Amino acid sequence: MNDIIDFLTQRRSASAKTMIEPGPSDDQLEQILAAGIRVPDHGRLGPWQFIVIKGDARARFGDVLANAYQKAHDDAFDELLEVERERFQRAPVVIAVTSRITKGHKIPEWEQELSSGAACMNMLNAAHAMGYGAQWLTEWPAYNGDVAAALGLGENERIAGFIYIGSPVEPPTERIRAALGDIVREWKG
Ligand SMILES: Cc1cc2nc3c(=O)[nH]c(=O)nc-3n(C[C@H](O)[C@H](O)[C@H](O)COP(=O)(O)O)c2cc1C
Repeated sequence: MNDIIDFLTQRRSASAKTMIEPGPSDDQLEQILAAGIRVPDHGRLGPWQFIVIKGDARARFGDVLANAYQKAHDDAFDELLEVERERFQRAPVVIAVTSRITKGHKIPEWEQELSSGAACMNMLNAAHAMGYGAQWLTEWPAYNGDVAAALGLGENERIAGFIYIGSPVEPPTERIRAALGDIVREWKG
């Protein structure tokens, strides 16, 4: 048990920029996805979808990104479009995690959205537990309508994050954390 507590209290994301092959195998990816659905989900609405983008599809998705970027920026020049073509090739596997809201349900939308965050976090932890580096990024593609359309998102669905997974080139350095004393207090009435 202490190993798990150490894991949770010392975890760090890797930078997508520093990920290389190999990524998770198909079996490992299935386990990561299985961890993603093992999250609190009030009302059992399944308010998320996981869309895997790997292999050659990453380059094809890069074309989607470049086109969407160009449409949104008249002044986009070739180098910028090239960055977009490469964006999803920073890691061997990318999982787009959506937040899929059931409108008018007694479970508040806020709670449905929070469940997507939990799914992202569980998949990050699962990938890290296997020794991979992983990072939760949104960046502009999470907020672009053409990207959402290419991913086949529904009307009340949006991107909660793209989980990039790959082999880390180097262990991540420590990051300054909030001090518990600054954010924790005990309410005593
Ligand atoms: C919803 C969400 C979106 C994020 N999007 C980005 C992003 O677009 N770009 C970025 O550099 N970090 C983003 N981050 C931060 C990274 O996931 C991560 O927190 C950071 O790399 C530090 O890693 P660590 O604190 O997990 O070790 C996002 C985090 C969350 C929760």
